[in-house]
Amino acid sequence: MSAHPSQGEGGSAGTERALVLHPDILSDRDRRPAAAGLAEAIALARALPGLTVVGGQVVGLRAVQPGTLFGSGKVEELKRQIETDEIGLVLVDGPVSPVQQRNLEKEWNVKLLDRTGLILEIFADRAATREGVLQVELAALSYQRTRLVRAWTHLERQRGGLGFVGGPGETQIEADRRAIDEAITRIRRQLEKVVRTRTLHRAARARVPFPVVALVGYTNAGKSTLFNRLTGADVLVRDMLFATLDPTMRGVTLDTGQKVILSDTVGFVSDLPHQLVAAFRATLEEVLSADLIVHVRDISHAETEAQAEDVAKILHELGVPDDTPGIEVWNKIDLVPAEERQAIETLAARRPGVLTLSATTGEGEGQLVGTITEMLAGAFTDAELSLTFADGRQRAWLHDARVVTGERQTETGWDIAVRWSERQKEAYARLTGDDPGQDHALDR
Ligand code: GTP
Repeated sequence: MSAHPSQGEGGSAGTERALVLHPDILSDRDRRPAAAGLAEAIALARALPGLTVVGGQVVGLRAVQPGTLFGSGKVEELKRQIETDEIGLVLVDGPVSPVQQRNLEKEWNVKLLDRTGLILEIFADRAATREGVLQVELAALSYQRTRLVRAWTHLERQRGGLGFVGGPGETQIEADRRAIDEAITRIRRQLEKVVRTRTLHRAARARVPFPVVALVGYTNAGKSTLFNRLTGADVLVRDMLFATLDPTMRGVTLDTGQKVILSDTVGFVSDLPHQLVAAFRATLEEVLSADLIVHVRDISHAETEAQAEDVAKILHELGVPDDTPGIEVWNKIDLVPAEERQAIETLAARRPGVLTLSATTGEGEGQLVGTITEMLAGAFTDAELSLTFADGRQRAWLHDARVVTGERQTETGWDIAVRWSERQKEAYARLTGDDPGQDHALDR
């Protein structure tokens, strides 16, 4: 069985040509449907910049071979295909032992990543917060410690992947275990520091005083397509103010003049390897402080219900407050067969906060923007603040945040009426040092 993805064929200079293999182990009773597994693995691989997926294949296996994973006949057959297609990187969608990895890399003359390695690469690409980056590095080091390390040069690099996926001919630095252990210790220390200076992070966040709308969802649900559409020129105005923000966070201005930050997040996947759970959480840190969560679902997917349950469970485990306002977007409605479409649309219309959409064709987009605007408005409360003339900085912050609805000068300063979200209120409290948690910590 062979699936040649329609996108990314051909390849261009400077990209690594990759083959995706999904082992379908017949003796494994809990195995997932192979075709869906392969499709997900190909989609994951496509999430990595610098890769051209030139082929994908389900490989049926009666049993795992300890030395080479696949049987010798299959190894030979794949070797010919790898040579013909000039493959430089093989992605195996499942666990591959260090021994199997070494043998296959030698036999096929390629670099090989297993599922954990692939997901690590994606996290490394997406990790935005300092803690996220450190957690990913830590997970990568713990993972590589069990293998003969080929590349951990990413520690010296400023940005980019973890060093698994490099250009051909890239020098592979062999590092010994002691060096890795030292690196792990160093990263752990840095992580502790990051946690200790959380209050500083919070203060930094307070300087971006706009409501945050986070797009979350299962991998391949269409978050990035929707993100690009929403932050493109069509519906919302892209705000250059945010050009320096992380590429997965963009500022947009709603019709009402309200500025919001839209945040794209790493896609959720099922059976996440345990080394990656902490890294995954750290990359999703910004979701915790979101004012509105937009859950993007691929409604055309056969496993859409199970995926939605996974996402809900993970959000809960992450500690996202249950009362965080949310919208559920049933995306890819254009892929739903005409005869089912009406029923799905009726169902969505009956549920509050649920709407159908196609991020590709753009239908439903206006309704989504309208709902986001409404929900953000609903999440706002009014307050009256009295500031003294010494509070000029706070007053400037309030105006920057566009939360001021009225202002009157008094003998000692200003009375200011504001309308703000919970998050803005908290950000302001941090700015003024009026943070109960922090005060408590300082008392001790
Ligand atoms: P991860 O980065 O893995 O989390 O994926 P994602 O949720 O960001 O998905 P992405 O936007 O990359 O879309 C995945 C694939 O689905 C792409 O090939 C998109 O072109 C396609 N896609 C997204 N939205 C739609 C849609 O509404 N209709 C159709 N037909 N395809 C869509």
